[in-house]
Amino acid sequence: MIIDIKSKNYLDKILENSKQYLERQFNEKQLKIFYKTIENLSECDSEVEIIKQFSNIYINFVKRQLQEKYKYSDNNLKNFINSPNSNIKIIWGDVYKVLKALDSESIHLMITSPPYYNARDYSTWNNLNDYLHDMEKIIIEAYRVLDNHRVFVFNVGDVFDNDNLTTRSVWGKRRIPLGAYFIKIFEEVGFTFVDDFIWDKGEVQSERQKNSNRPYPFYQYPYNCYEHILIFHKHRLDKIKYPCPLCGSLKVNGNTQSEIGIQSWECKNYDCFVRSESNRGKRFSLKTKITQSKQTIENIIDDEAIKKWRRDIVKFSPVIKINSKGENILGHTAPFPEEIPEMAVKFFSYIGDKILDPFAGSFTTAIVAKKLNRIAIGVEINKNRFRENILKNIRNKLGSKIEIDEYDYL
Ligand SMILES: C[S@@+](CC[C@H](N)C(=O)[O-])C[C@H]1O[C@@H](n2cnc3c(N)ncnc32)[C@H](O)[C@@H]1O
Repeated sequence: MIIDIKSKNYLDKILENSKQYLERQFNEKQLKIFYKTIENLSECDSEVEIIKQFSNIYINFVKRQLQEKYKYSDNNLKNFINSPNSNIKIIWGDVYKVLKALDSESIHLMITSPPYYNARDYSTWNNLNDYLHDMEKIIIEAYRVLDNHRVFVFNVGDVFDNDNLTTRSVWGKRRIPLGAYFIKIFEEVGFTFVDDFIWDKGEVQSERQKNSNRPYPFYQYPYNCYEHILIFHKHRLDKIKYPCPLCGSLKVNGNTQSEIGIQSWECKNYDCFVRSESNRGKRFSLKTKITQSKQTIENIIDDEAIKKWRRDIVKFSPVIKINSKGENILGHTAPFPEEIPEMAVKFFSYIGDKILDPFAGSFTTAIVAKKLNRIAIGVEINKNRFRENILKNIRNKLGSKIEIDEYDYL
């Protein structure tokens, strides 16, 4: 291979500028490994490539440092989700325990619809508070496991039910604003609530009147025809210096926080390729550094998807799971339509990213993620009840040759 002398010099230049920051960030042992890892960069054939690779290696090293602080991850489970193949990955188990066993910031996007509060035979809690408490424990772990500056898409309906807190009679029934309660929980855990798409489920199928056939005041309740698709961002404030995207130097100074939880930086390398008229350096954050470097052709979102989700009320039909003979053809009582994970995957992830559905159900998220060339991972607790139908559903949608890996964490 021909070594480009200019490029070799350029790596030296970055190191010259960044040495003191590297020494501050890494201990002696880590630094040794870091230098060993970047050694071959001098063989890159352009300065741009050196800057890109130096930056990626540095970001990965910083992430490893964070991950090493967490002592409860399980190596076998980690190897399972990190295995380089692109098979659908099913983890059987309680998602709270599964998340506890995963590395911090190791998943790029989470998409789910949680078990319904008491609306299904497989989901019963004593009362609303017990349910929300269980969900909060899971959301705390989800926050830790989701990568920084990434997204959790959470589909939930406001159900008409009894909260079972004061009365258990039918009079205790009311619309329970689960969307609002979940927003509060997510915010308390650290997420930023950013958006709420209202999924308009169309006309109700049932002819049954919800007014007990009494056309009098105080007996009228509307049918529930919508659900929320809530968008939460994770922005853990990270004050670690990152290399300037233009010159690769770590000689950067802290600027203001551009959004809550997002630290922005300004390049202070006076030899940087671009400086403003007033001699200010490039301003950037880790978030802009990642999003701008991934704006490649394969990550372009198709016009149809952008158009479909242009408004915050979006109409599409729920999944029809019962056939004309009254049989459940999916073997699961609560699948969401592919439209939800399709929007989530296209809008909030890149090709090759790891997508996790913590309450995978019939694995709709995984099926869509796989179709869109992402790594599809789902966690489901009810193995005995759903396994056979889940495997059948995945094979129906992705073809009988699809490779499925299973891991028991029950
Ligand atoms: C609303 S369904 C999800 C449906 C899914 N979006 C689909 O398209 O099929 C919720 C699922 O969460 C599962 N579940 C409930 N509690 C769980 C837990 N602690 N860990 C993992 N899965 C759980 C239930 O068995 C159920 O299949």
